[in-house]
Amino acid sequence: MAKAAPASIRKEIEGLREKLRHHEYRYYVLDDPEISDAAYDRLMQKLQALEAGYPELVTPDSPTVRVGGTPRDGFQTVQHARAMLSLDNAFSYDALRDFDRRVRESIGKEKIEYIAEHKFDGLSISLQYAGGRLVRGVTRGDGTTGEDVTPNVKTIRSIPLQMDAAALKKAKLPSVFEVRGEVLMTHKAFEALNRQQELTGGKIFVNARNSAAGAVRVLDPSITAARRLDFFAYYLFVDGKVPFPKHSDSLGALKQLRFRASDDWKLCHGIDEVIAYCDDWDAKREKLPYEIDGVVIKVNATAIQNELGFTAKAPRWAIAFKYPARQETTVVNDIIVQVGRTGALTPVAMLEPVQVGGVTVSRSTLHNMDEVERLGVQIGDTVLIERAGEVIPHVLKVVKEGKNRKPFRMPRHCPECHSAIHHVDGEVAYRCVNAACPAKRKESLLHYASRHAMNIDGLGDKIVDQLVDKGLVKDVADLYALKEDDVVALDRMAEKSAQNLLEEIEGSKKCSLARLIYALGIFSVGERTGQLLAEHFSSLEELASAKEEQLEAVHEVGPKVAASIVEFFSEPANRQLIKRLNRGGVHPTAEKREVKSEKFRGKSFVFTGGLANRSREEAGELVQQHGGKVSGTVSKKTDYVVVGTDPGSKYEKAKELGVTILTESEFERLLEAK
Ligand code: IVH
Repeated sequence: MAKAAPASIRKEIEGLREKLRHHEYRYYVLDDPEISDAAYDRLMQKLQALEAGYPELVTPDSPTVRVGGTPRDGFQTVQHARAMLSLDNAFSYDALRDFDRRVRESIGKEKIEYIAEHKFDGLSISLQYAGGRLVRGVTRGDGTTGEDVTPNVKTIRSIPLQMDAAALKKAKLPSVFEVRGEVLMTHKAFEALNRQQELTGGKIFVNARNSAAGAVRVLDPSITAARRLDFFAYYLFVDGKVPFPKHSDSLGALKQLRFRASDDWKLCHGIDEVIAYCDDWDAKREKLPYEIDGVVIKVNATAIQNELGFTAKAPRWAIAFKYPARQETTVVNDIIVQVGRTGALTPVAMLEPVQVGGVTVSRSTLHNMDEVERLGVQIGDTVLIERAGEVIPHVLKVVKEGKNRKPFRMPRHCPECHSAIHHVDGEVAYRCVNAACPAKRKESLLHYASRHAMNIDGLGDKIVDQLVDKGLVKDVADLYALKEDDVVALDRMAEKSAQNLLEEIEGSKKCSLARLIYALGIFSVGERTGQLLAEHFSSLEELASAKEEQLEAVHEVGPKVAASIVEFFSEPANRQLIKRLNRGGVHPTAEKREVKSEKFRGKSFVFTGGLANRSREEAGELVQQHGGKVSGTVSKKTDYVVVGTDPGSKYEKAKELGVTILTESEFERLLEAK
């Protein structure tokens, strides 16, 4: 006879359920988790283990048999035609082998064909198409019913609104079908969002997943649109059934239908190949433009999937292998302030160094005073931090208040130049407005020298500190007057590296106009705007004297950016700086372009990845010499995408849109052709 469960176990189980329900609510309903995913998973595993030991204590409402949260008010709820189930998790390769054993034993086969694909860290969405049009987008909700978020998903650009009849025919699909996938935000979009929030004093988002989930579930679709979300499709249904004999066929069909689906999936023969895939991507996931928190492994054959079926919670034919979370707790030893290029003071948490996913983290930006207050963080507190991709780690929340905690206050004087700090009531930023503040100077120099600006290799913060502190350089124009003796005299500077640095500075004179515009650090003018302005104006002087209307005539330049450019050039010190740069030999113009032919007239090119025989800028110059245009983004209007080594998302986009893709040698042939 089974022994009766002791009262202490009943109590422990009830306690765990309470906790899990609370955290599910925070995570699924409020999009505001209090604990890390790993900590949540540990609670869940503990409950699962206890319930396995005492099956009589399992109740139908236990979090272990449930899928998600409850839909919020404000949206219409919709019943899913087929439940949107969750996946069982595997936290070790042993658990994957167990999964494989279970599958093989139930099917009676020696080796199973699996598809391993990225586990996107976002929000799952079901998209319903009828007559080839997107008619509805629904969140997962509790798995059975979700929220109708159609107007919101319609703003996501990677979601096709209408199907091409020919594409449907080619994919052998009817015009009524359902696509499931994940809505997410790239690291780049997330960083841009927080930068924007920082400038406007808006709420700072803790991670890309939460900001994507929040953006899908707002009542105002224009907010969704502004967040620049992405959608990756991974599942296709017709009449509630998988329409192809293999999952790989579905992935192929989704691509044909112009959905964004990852190209990184792999057909694996047996579990060893699956494990090799997980290992491979653990090392490479850091470099992906978006966050993945694991690998999803699916039995490829639909017939075997059907034979295996589902448990109450998840399919038996799939499992999620989870990577260790890149979250950790650590102590805030101090909060310091950094003075940025614009003079804005940024509080930075100095952390007790901690390993997060193989990288030591010892500091994390707190963005602004509002964020410090929102987090309620003080010196001495223990905080939860998270690192995603190669971006700067974020503080998610305070997990424990320090015994002798000390509140942080914005200094009244600049920590660098000691002049009074300006702060307008109601505004978020605290600023040092001293134009001569060395911290601002240093940041401007670092920005000017950065890889995407003038690309002056070797001009890092240690050198910049010395150049400014010794009074050798006050602004970027002074760089061009540096002498070898000045540079050699710097600490840790050998003769050879001094020469290299001077050569790099000299080389920067040949930079494109686009880079120079970006390098000046005009408020609101990023790389892309720099590029657009350079395509429109033939020199810096012409840009400097442009009126707001002329600037707004440039595609994508709005009134705010135009006003900011005009303000920059109306400042006498800035006009002076440009004159001095000019005298120093920095005067790129777009006019000097040699016209070789008109054969690319009306054609637009995009370059992605590293080229072997020339830089991308040089290749772009060649295109323009033949009358063509170069763009930074791939669209339906792009004629050619030239792909080098390690291409990025532009390559994906080109494939998706069916744009002609050229290798470097094919591009060369095109150049040589009459
Ligand atoms: S398939 C019945 N594939 O992970 C199978 N899910 O932990 C349904 N997810 O609810 C899911 N990437 O939100 C699948 N490549 C992928 C995925 C994926 C992320 C999410 C999805 C699911 C959750 C389960």
